[in-house]
Amino acid sequence: MRLVRLIGNLGYGSRKEVAGMFREGRITDAAGEVLYADDKVGHDDILIDGESLDPPAGLVLMLNKPTGYTCSTRDPGRIVYDLLPPRFKLRSPVLSTVGRLDRETSGLLLMTDDGALLHRIISPKAHMRKVYEAMLAEDLKGDEAALFASGAMMLEGEDTPLLPAVLEVLGPRQARLTITEGRYHQVRRMFAATGNHVDALGRVAVGGLGLDGLAPGAWRALDPGDMARVFAG
Ligand code: URA
Repeated sequence: MRLVRLIGNLGYGSRKEVAGMFREGRITDAAGEVLYADDKVGHDDILIDGESLDPPAGLVLMLNKPTGYTCSTRDPGRIVYDLLPPRFKLRSPVLSTVGRLDRETSGLLLMTDDGALLHRIISPKAHMRKVYEAMLAEDLKGDEAALFASGAMMLEGEDTPLLPAVLEVLGPRQARLTITEGRYHQVRRMFAATGNHVDALGRVAVGGLGLDGLAPGAWRALDPGDMARVFAG
């Protein structure tokens, strides 16, 4: 791929702007030699203003989403893209969230520009394990785990029962819930159906990949080992 296109696709600017960056000598190789737009070099040998290029297409990243951010490119309020370098919103292929977390849900959110991978993770047939921790407004009654595990629980307005889910009690008003589907507001609606209310909700794992100490608001690119953990879950 020609360099102007490769760099433009990473969101650094329009073709015209990237061509201007070449003319200004801002694009160099790893040794600091100025590159020209028709040079033939690989992604890893290109620096802009002395900095390595962002990861190439095929990017998968994990973000520890704080509450108050929406999984959208358009919302007028805070959006998850505000937590990434601004040019990530301009990448082609586009960087999408892998499913969504509600604005008031925090925790592990994957994002990728790989459409096939995205579908492999969110497809209902994948039964990808998602683990949430919830703080509840009321004490647990004790019968929730059996109901959630039954495979017969119906959510209001739906006509198919939920797949069995695993509830672990962490405290009188605190629980960990593992689900393998992704219905609208599923966790909040499950607890609401038991007469409770979720005061705070965070996702702690997708498949076998956890947050691993990633700070709220921070992100990192995933490597093949991380992806193996996602699918090992
Ligand atoms: N369930 C919810 O209720 N909200 C989320 O954000 C994710 C799962």
